[in-house]
Amino acid sequence: MTATGSAQPRAVKKRVAVLISGRGSNMAALIDAAKSPDYPAEIILVASNVPDAAGLAYAREAGIATEAVDHRRFGEDREAFERALDAKLREYRIELVCLAGFMRLLTPYFITRWNGRLLNIHPALLPQFKGLHTHRRALAAGVERHGATVHFVVAEMDSGPIVAQESVPVLAGDTEETLAQRVLEVEHRLYPRALRLVAEGRGSFATPGREKASC
Ligand code: GRF
Repeated sequence: MTATGSAQPRAVKKRVAVLISGRGSNMAALIDAAKSPDYPAEIILVASNVPDAAGLAYAREAGIATEAVDHRRFGEDREAFERALDAKLREYRIELVCLAGFMRLLTPYFITRWNGRLLNIHPALLPQFKGLHTHRRALAAGVERHGATVHFVVAEMDSGPIVAQESVPVLAGDTEETLAQRVLEVEHRLYPRALRLVAEGRGSFATPGREKASC
C-alpha cells in the first residue's frame, strides 16, 4: 500500500540490448512485445556486427538506438571486437543481452562478462541439433517434432540452461523452408515470453562459482 492507498509503484524495466547480424525478425518480435506497458523489459539498443544488417533499419524506424561494430575492423582478434561491443553495451547501461540471429561465435571473455545475463534463441529443440542447418538436419533425422529454444549462453555452443522451448510438428512433405517458417512463427512468440521470465527474475542462471546475476 502506498501513502495514497492505491497506486503501486511501477516496476523498473530491465534495459535490454538485442544483437543481430541479419534480418532481425526475432528482434522485431522483442521490440513489439516490449511496447506493452506491462512488459518488464525495454529494448534500449540494437547492435550488429554487420553495418548494413536489415534489422538495424527496422530498429531505427522503431525509434531505438542502433550501433554497428563491424567485426572486420578487428581482423582475427575476436576479443578486441568483443571489447568494443561490450563498451557499447556498458555505454547504454545494458542489463540483459539477447542474441537474435547474431552470427559470431563468442569467446569466454564476453560470455563470462555477461554470465547469467546473455540469452540466445536456437531454432531446434535443444539438446537436439546444436549448430547450423537445424531444419535440414531435423528432416534428415526424421523427427516427428522440431521447434525452438531460448537458453542462457555458456562457453559450450548451444548448451546453456534452457529458459523456454516450444515445439511444432514436422509434416509430411515439409521442406527446409516450410519447416523453417513454422519454427520461426514459434520463435516470435517464444523469445518475448522467455525474456519476460528472465526480466521478472523467474528464470535465472549463473555459472557455479561466479556471482549470480540479478536479472
Ligand atoms: C532464427 O532462426 C534464430 O533462431 C537463429 O537465427 C535466425 C535469425 O532470424 N539463431 P532473424 O534474424 O531473427 O529473423
